[in-house]
Amino acid sequence: MKDQRVLSGMRPTGKLHLGHYQCVLKNWVELQNEYDSYYFVADWHAFTTHYSDKIDLESYTIDMVIDWLAAGINPNTSTIFVQSKVPEHAELHLLLSMTTPVSWLERVPSYKDQQEKLKTKDLATYGFLGYPVLQSSDILMYKAGLVPVGEDQAAHVELTREIARRFNYIYGREADFEERAEKAVSKMGKKQAKIYRNLRKSYQETGNDEALVKAKALLVEQKNITHGDRERLLGYIEGVGKIILVEPEALLTKTSKMSGLDGQKMSKSYNNVISLRDSASEIKQKVKKMSTDPARVRLTNPGNPNKCPVWNLHEIYGAQDQLDWVVDGCTNAKMGCIECKEPVIDSIVAELLPMQERINKYKSEPSLIQEIIFDGSERARSVAKETMKDVRDAMGLTY
Ligand code: TRP
Ligand code: SF4
Repeated sequence: MKDQRVLSGMRPTGKLHLGHYQCVLKNWVELQNEYDSYYFVADWHAFTTHYSDKIDLESYTIDMVIDWLAAGINPNTSTIFVQSKVPEHAELHLLLSMTTPVSWLERVPSYKDQQEKLKTKDLATYGFLGYPVLQSSDILMYKAGLVPVGEDQAAHVELTREIARRFNYIYGREADFEERAEKAVSKMGKKQAKIYRNLRKSYQETGNDEALVKAKALLVEQKNITHGDRERLLGYIEGVGKIILVEPEALLTKTSKMSGLDGQKMSKSYNNVISLRDSASEIKQKVKKMSTDPARVRLTNPGNPNKCPVWNLHEIYGAQDQLDWVVDGCTNAKMGCIECKEPVIDSIVAELLPMQERINKYKSEPSLIQEIIFDGSERARSVAKETMKDVRDAMGLTY
């Protein structure tokens, strides 16, 4: 499993909050033990929406990496890097922009949504339209199989697949592709070649995914063929050319939403967050003020947890007995909202306190953070250079 690669990124546009931790970082921490994981600060992406804002990218980037480390991302097992330190991303973005139809980009839901939402900004820019191409470059550069993201990003991963497929289709074709593929088939030996041909036929005629999976497994086992032949034969099954860029899959996060203080999704733009760096007393104050089921005007008014944003926090932090206690106390008007919020406050403080200790420790070691970013970016860059070699080669740019 370790050879499957995971990649994800975050834009450094503000302080991280509890929603980032619960919905994103916890997942990243788990994945790093199972996969070769790449996590990066998408600093160029910040300009797509914040090009005219004076944001302190350097301190946002450093604070973000500190928060990742404090949350448990391990720089020895994961590769942590900064996008702008790997300029190959810009080259791939440029090259992929040549083959990406504008209509594909205009159809991406976030293109119109964000323009509607961020009315004060002029997002009718070339960079904003091309933002998903940059994101595709980030992903395709590392031949990442899995991209852990929230639902809002799934369309971008889907587009990445289309961009990869189109690239492979156009540039993966060698003039003598079929001839070479046939030659490679015969190198497998009669019996294996026959199995391969049957699986290929089955996939091409019926789109049978199982046949595709089996054929891929068969190719991995072949000892007599070169790496290039293996890729050719993979492409030959799917009817495209040689596969140069690998199609990723989105890995949707389990906890996809965390309620903010006002009941909307926790998000900086709604000003309803608990920051990872809030003190215990700030947390207490914020949760105490948090909105609840409006039916509970008085203690004697029964409520419905499903209409209360605090319930979502109980679901995240509480065990079954706590949940039962909330339902009973709320629906039967046995307890007030302040009492109901107490275990939530305790859980959040208990979760953040040790994280904040680690944050403070990292803050006192700026050169360690610099080193982690530098080393990770160098590691990422060596993978990026390999991919760019393949891409330039396929496009005839290696003269
Ligand atoms: N677009 C993502 C966001 O706004 C950030 C991002 C940039 C990203 N490149 C990526 C996420 C590549 C996953 C993979 O949250
Ligand atoms: Fe929400 Fe708890 Fe108040 Fe019910 S008792 S409305 S669940 S805070």
